[in-house]
Formats: sequence, structure tokens, C-alpha cells
Amino acid sequence: MKIAFASSEVVPFAKTGGLADVAGALPKEIAKLGNEVKVFMPKYYQINEYEYGHQYDSLIGELKVSINGYEHSVHVFYGKLPNSNVDTYFIHYPNFFHRNKIYTEDWDEDERFILFSKAVIQVMQKLGWSPDIVHVNDWQTALIPVLLRETFAWDSLFNKTKTVLTIHNIGYQGRFSIESYKRAELPVELYEHFGPLTHEGDSNFLKSGILYSDVINTVSDTYAKELLTREYGSGMDGYLWGRHTDFYGIVNGVDYNVWNPETDKYIPYHYTIDDLTGKLKNKKFLLDKLGMPFSSDIPLIGIVSRLVKQKGFDIISEILHKILDLNLQLVILGSGEDDYENMFQDAANKYPNKMGVYFGYNEELAHLIEAGSDIFLMPSHYEPCGLNQIYSLKYGTVPVVRKTGGLADTVQDWNEYNAYGHDTGNGFSFYEYSGKALLQSIERALNDFNNKPVWRKIQNNGMSKDYSWHHSAEEYIALYKKAFSK
Ligand code: ADP
Ligand code: GLC
Repeated sequence: MKIAFASSEVVPFAKTGGLADVAGALPKEIAKLGNEVKVFMPKYYQINEYEYGHQYDSLIGELKVSINGYEHSVHVFYGKLPNSNVDTYFIHYPNFFHRNKIYTEDWDEDERFILFSKAVIQVMQKLGWSPDIVHVNDWQTALIPVLLRETFAWDSLFNKTKTVLTIHNIGYQGRFSIESYKRAELPVELYEHFGPLTHEGDSNFLKSGILYSDVINTVSDTYAKELLTREYGSGMDGYLWGRHTDFYGIVNGVDYNVWNPETDKYIPYHYTIDDLTGKLKNKKFLLDKLGMPFSSDIPLIGIVSRLVKQKGFDIISEILHKILDLNLQLVILGSGEDDYENMFQDAANKYPNKMGVYFGYNEELAHLIEAGSDIFLMPSHYEPCGLNQIYSLKYGTVPVVRKTGGLADTVQDWNEYNAYGHDTGNGFSFYEYSGKALLQSIERALNDFNNKPVWRKIQNNGMSKDYSWHHSAEEYIALYKKAFSK
């Protein structure tokens, strides 16, 4: 099959979260399974073409991309996903993509991704490349299925093309004023007078994608079920119900070339499931780096996260001081809302030996925290898939999570009901979204941390499980086939 994969972020070029990890790994696996894949992303200011050997694509040359009747002159750079043969096209329009952040609150945020979406289609036209599947991800590319059917339907290149939309996070929908659809030059009957593409009187790019894609999925089974409820659907549950026979869950995989304690290029000491000596050395290295004392007997809890409500920081804030009264240490790497930064900074000032913080984005520290921590904390309010808990399993870092979305699908509670026999489980989880329930789970984990054979068993259960992309990539192929047979 020929697959076009469009994403607003792709590892290693640009990343704010897990979408980039997925977009940097899944296309390679799909290609390995014998398919032709082309990846499309914006060429942000932060991407240095010389570092990766990307070249200006003179064969494609200039694209004239129209927004609100005005033609923008767009160019394209070309390269490969590292360690692969996967073609990657970078949409170059400095006026839109040379900003200090990947996502902005600027007035033309809608236009940035309308332009990107149209450019993806126009590159395929220039290449004369007819994809079987166009796979789009989240709101930033969710208009592509609409544009293919409404704006570019005249082009027989796309006669057989089907579309797949992956929802990575329902919390971000691409909601703008109704004018955005006008700027996208979509037919007026689709949006005027509360037309079908509108949601609560606004434009909503994700809703549009839900209505127009041939097949839709999200990134775990549990989140797929949750999205059909009012509680989790963020207003999209009704539309998803309308498409429920075309709506699936596929859990994300992990790129073990990047996230593997045996080979991780960011950590000073490698280790394996049979010998965790290196893990302890990484713990010391990490604590030294953060200026904190080291003891092998004091459990170290790690957090690597966007600092947003989704990730459970309000229930952490309820009990932060109770946590820090326990015999443990806590390190946090994150960037996001100031209130959460301030809360953690204040706590770090008060308990300098127990709590370490780093605010900002830091790839190396993210790996070091995975490797050096004993416990990984992820008490998300909702979590479509979540990657860090899956990385944690591989690093022997026992996850403590809230039982929701992909966290529920990947973390099994240690000895919960002994339902599957004794000594099963790879972490600790709780259901009720409250500081109290979170604290109880942390206390359970600390209790077992002191029982070394038990702790080692929990670590082994996590480390021995394979979450590589191979299996999920096969599920995506099956999904593409479903779309293609429609
Ligand atoms: P989400 O996509 O909702 O942020 P995921 O768990 O799927 O959550 O993925 C988050 C990814 O972003 C992981 O690879 C994680 O290591 C990384 N990450 C998050 N915050 C930071 C940070 N401050 N510095 C470095 N990496 C980070
Ligand atoms: C989103 C979700 C996260 C998921 C990631 C990749 O950002 O919040 O749970 O793992 O996308 O699919």
C-alpha cells in the first residue's frame, strides 16, 4: 500500500509530546512491513536542515497555497526519517512556521494548519503520487480528509484514496471562529447557519475530521470506549457515536531503538533485566546532577510530563506535602502551566534534599529520569495512551498510575485480586480521581519497595513485556485495509 502520513510533530525533528514519538516510529514500522510511506510535517524554525542533510526539493518547486482567496508561495524540503528509507517532506513557509513555538496562540493559528493541510495535498499532486491511504493525526491535519473530498475531488489522483484519522488527544480540537472555514475556502453550506462542520457555532477541525475520515481510531482500547462517554468525549462523543462502527482503538508502541536501557544513548550506565547495577548508578548520577543526596534505600519517584491539568497535577497538589513527608525523593521534569511550576518550585525550596525540579524541555534528562527513578508517577485525569509509563516498564521503573485510557491498558496492578494468579502485575494503579486514592497507591508502592524480592518481581514483569511497534503497526495495516475496502 501507499500511505501518506501527516503530522504536526515528528521525532527527531520537532516534538512537544507523544504524537511526535508516534509519528517518528510508526511510519518506519509500516514501511518495514512492505509499504511505501511518505511523511509530511511543517518545517519549523527549530529544524536545522543541515543537521539532518535535508535538501530543498527543486522538482516540487513552488506551491501556490490559497487561503481566503490569497495565494501563499510555499516551498518544500525533503529528507528521510533517520535510520530508514521513509521519505519525509517538510512544508516550508517561514511566515507561518518560523515562530518561537510549534503551537501558538497567535491569531493565525488556524491558517497555519490550513496551509499545512492544503500543502500536503498539493505536494502529492506535484509528485503525481496517488496514495491508497492518507493517515492524519489530531486537529492540525484533520481538515485533509475534508479538503480531499470537497476541494480536491476534481483530481482523479485521489479517486481511490481513503483516509484514516487518529485522535491522540480529544482535549485539543482546533476550535476557532466560523471564519476559519471561510479561510479554508470550504463550501459555505458546510458551515453557515450551523452547518454540519460546526460545533457549538464554532469551527472545529477535529469534528470535521471525525465526520469525513473513512476510518477513525484512537491510541488505546480503553480510551476508545471512554471517548464515547460524555465524561471523556469533550463534546465529540455524539459525533463519535455516529461513527462508532468505524471507530477503533490501537495502543501505541515504543521505539526501542530510542527507549531501551541496554542501548540508550542519553544514559551513562546501561543495564539489563538480569543485572540492574547500572540502574542504581544512574540513580546516583541523576541525584548528583540535581544536587540531591543519594541513598539506595530511599525510593526515588520520577515525573516527566507536560505540566497541564490532564496529567493529574491538581490531585498531586492536594497531597504534595503529604507525599514529601514520606520517606522518599521526588524529581520532576516538565514544562507548562506556571501555577504548577510555582507549586513544585516552592516545594523544592522547602525540601531541597527530597525534591528536584527542572522546568523546560530536556530530552537527556527525560531518559535519565526513566533510568534512574525507582517509581514513575502518572496520575492522569485522562490519558489517551501515554508513553512514559510504557518506557518506565522497560527501564524497571515501576509505574504508579490512574486507571484510565492507555494507562489502564498497559499497567496491571500488582497482585490486584490475584485474578491472574500470584505475583502478577507490573505497577500500581487507582481509579478514583482524588489525592487520597493517589496517596494510597504511592504508599502501597513504597511498602513493596522495601520488600526486595517482591519489588524485583514487579520490575521483571514490566521489563520482560514487549511493547515494540511491530504488533501495533500490523493493527494499523489492518485498519488501512478496512478503510481501503470501504
Ligand atoms: P503527551 O503526548 O500527552 O504529552 P505521552 O506520555 O504520550 O504524553 O508522551 C510524552 C512524551 O514527551 C514522552 O516521550 C516524554 O518523555 C516527553 N516529554 C514530556 N515532557 C517532557 C520534557 N519536559 N522534556 C523532555 N521530554 C518530555
Ligand atoms: C497524546 C496523548 C498521549 C498519547 C500521545 C501519542 O498527546 O496525550 O496519551 O500517548 O498523544 O499518541
